[in-house]
Order: sequence, then C-alpha cells, then structure tokens
Amino acid sequence: MLQRLKLLERLQNLARRPIFWIVTGLFTILLAAGVGSGIRSMQAPPPQPLDFNHQVHVGLGIQCLYCHPGAWRQAAAGLPTTAKCWGCHQQMANTKPAQQVLVAYAMAGESIPWVPVFIQPDFVYFNHRPHIAAGLNCENCHGEISRQTVAQPIPRQNMGWCLDCHRGRAAGDEQMLARLTDCATCHR
Ligand code: HEC
Ligand code: HEC
Ligand code: HEC
Ligand code: HEC
Ligand code: HEC
Repeated sequence: MLQRLKLLERLQNLARRPIFWIVTGLFTILLAAGVGSGIRSMQAPPPQPLDFNHQVHVGLGIQCLYCHPGAWRQAAAGLPTTAKCWGCHQQMANTKPAQQVLVAYAMAGESIPWVPVFIQPDFVYFNHRPHIAAGLNCENCHGEISRQTVAQPIPRQNMGWCLDCHRGRAAGDEQMLARLTDCATCHR
C-alpha cells in the first residue's frame, strides 16, 4: 500500500515536469503513425467481378506474358480478353461459381471489368518495356503473384520507391543517374 502511494506520488511529480508531456506526446504520435502504417500495409485487394486465381493458372504452366503480353513490348502490360479465357474454358465443365461468372461474360460477349490493383496517378509515366529489357522480373515489383489466389496490391509504391531502385541501378554511371532521376523521365 505504502509503495503504491509512493509510486503515485512519483508519477504526480513527474506529470508536473514538461519533459513528461513531451515524451508522452512523442509516444502518442509514434503510436498513431505505427497504427496508420499498419493499416496501409494490410491494404486489401479490391473486389473483382470474379476472383481470378493466379496460383492455379501459373501452376498449370501458363506464362505471365501469355496473358500480359504488353509487358515486354509496350508501356502497359495489358489484361487478357474474355475470348482468351474462353479459349480454354469452353472445353471445361466450369462448375465453380467464379467460372460461372466467366461463362456469363463469355456468353454475353462482354469484357470482364477488372478493377486495377497496381495503378499510378495520371501524372506519372511508367513503361514496362525498359524494365523488362533491363532484366527485371515481374516479381521485383509485383511480389509473388504466382502464389496468390487474388492479385494483392503492394503499398507505398510511390516516387521514393521508383527513385530508390533507379539510384541503385545507376550507381557509378553519372549519365544514367541523370536520366533515371530527371523529373521529365516520369512526369511528362
Ligand atoms: C490455358 C488455359 C486457361 C486459360 C487461358 C484460362 N484458364 Fe482458367 N483454368 C484453367 C484450368 C485448367 C483450370 C483448373 C481446372 C478447374 O479448376 O476446373 C482453371 C481454373 C479456373 C478457375 C477456378 C480457379 C480455382 O480457384 O479453382 C477460374 C475462376 C478460372 N479458371 C477463370 C479464368 C479466367 C477469368 C480466365 C481469363 C482471364 C482464365 N481462367 C484463363 C485453364 C485456363
Ligand atoms: C491465364 C491468364 C493469366 C496469367 C497466366 C497471369 N495473369 Fe496476371 N492477371 C490476369 C487477370 C485476368 C488479371 C486481372 C484480375 C486481377 O487483378 O486479379 C491479372 C492481374 C494481374 C496483375 C494486377 C494488374 C492490375 O490490375 O494492376 C498483375 C501485377 C499480374 N496479373 C501479374 C502477373 C504475373 C507476374 C504473372 C505470372 C507469374 C501473371 N500475372 C500470370 C491473368 C493472368
Ligand atoms: C519496375 C517495376 C515493374 C516490373 C518489373 C513489372 N511491373 Fe507491372 N506494373 C508496374 C507499375 C508501376 C504498374 C502501374 C502502372 C500504371 O498505373 O501506369 C504496373 C502495372 C501492371 C499491370 C496492370 C496494368 C497494365 O500495365 O496493363 C499488369 C497486368 C502488370 N503490371 C503485369 C506485369 C508483368 C506480367 C510483369 C513481368 C513480365 C511486370 N508487370 C513487371 C511495375 C512493374
Ligand atoms: C526494381 C527497380 C525499378 C523500379 C522499382 C522502377 N524502375 Fe524504372 N527503371 C529501372 C531500370 C533498371 C530501368 C532501365 C534503365 C536503363 O538501362 O536504361 C528503368 C527505366 C525507366 C524508364 C525509362 C527511362 C529512359 O528514359 O530510358 C522510366 C520512364 C521509368 N523507369 C519509370 C519508372 C517509374 C515511374 C517507376 C515507379 C512507378 C519505376 N520506374 C520503378 C528500374 C526500376
Ligand atoms: C523514377 C520516377 C520519378 C522521377 C524521376 C520523379 N518522380 Fe515525381 N513521382 C513519381 C511517382 C511514381 C509519383 C506518384 C506517387 C507519389 O505521390 O509518390 C510522383 C509524384 C510526384 C509529385 C506529387 C506528390 C504528391 O504528394 O502528390 C510531385 C510534385 C512530383 N512527383 C515531383 C517530381 C519532381 C519535381 C521530380 C524531379 C526532381 C520528380 N518528381 C521526379 C515518380 C517520379
């Protein structure tokens, strides 16, 4: 009891000193920031018209570039058309609920309105081609898509993320460094 009272007294004394409030304030800010970044890093994938399972399809031996052929030729990787899905699925039973959604789109001759998972703002210029040409793999930027049952977004793929890799890649090459960090390279 006596010890508890003494502790209380010490706390009260401490609370009168500004340093106590400064430290408490900083702690609260850090805690809030931590919670915030926790929420961001747990960013959920957007709901899709139907869940496309990468793990199943890549597991069958289908190449990324079969469905995303733009990735090595042009800016956008592109998404497969309903006809491309149907090319295989018309020969299948399609008993799973997600497959029945595919059947409905294929019968209607409509494209599936996939929701973007990885997307940069309009004022950013990104092009897949130079990245694939430089020997990067899809996984370097998109994570282990081939093990995912729905494509998962990766948070914080911001300007710092692009620049960190560009600086690392251009290390020791002044000309390349200037080109890869020039504002106009990514903002045009
Ligand atoms: C090269 C052939 C091929 C292509 C192209 C293909 N699929 Fe499949 N898909 C399969 C096979 C094989 C299975 C596994 C058999 C099964 O589950 O019935 C499968 C399974 C599925 C499943 C069930 C997945 C699960 O979780 O079990 C869905 C949904 C599906 N495909 C949708 C699509 C959509 C949408 C497209 C186009 C974007 C597509 N498939 C393109 C061959 C293909
Ligand atoms: C059979 C076709 C198929 C294959 C093979 C395939 N994908 Fe996909 N991929 C899709 C479809 C359909 C979507 C759109 C649905 C979604 O985002 O979940 C998609 C979405 C994605 C996205 C997110 C696109 C966005 O909206 O931002 C990435 C990244 C991706 N795929 C990478 C890969 C990589 C890497 C591989 C190889 C390991 C691969 N894909 C193999 C069909 C395919
Ligand atoms: C250097 C990083 C990087 C690499 C490597 C990379 N991507 Fe991407 N990918 C991105 C970024 C950034 C976006 C968003 C682009 C935008 O919104 O303008 C994106 C978007 C996509 C999309 C959706 C939009 C589109 O472009 O059609 C798909 C699908 C995709 N990537 C597939 C792939 C595949 C498949 C590979 C490997 C062959 C690959 N990516 C390699 C960074 C990368
Ligand atoms: C994992 C590393 C990596 C990441 C992440 C990355 N890049 Fe790159 N980027 C490269 C490499 C490597 C090159 C090719 C450099 C060369 O050999 O010319 C390149 C080239 C480019 C080019 C072509 C430059 C030119 O003039 O030749 C553009 C544009 C570009 N990146 C934009 C972006 C943007 C925007 C992002 C972020 C959304 C990004 N990059 C993220 C590695 C990366
Ligand atoms: C390697 C690619 C790359 C280069 C080089 C680059 N940026 Fe960016 N920038 C981005 C990306 C990606 C975003 C969008 C994501 C974000 O907000 O971080 C962005 C966002 C921005 C924004 C908006 C920030 C916001 O909070 O909305 C401004 C302003 C900007 N950049 C200015 C510049 C200037 C000035 C330079 C040259 C000194 C530059 N950028 C060079 C990739 C780049």
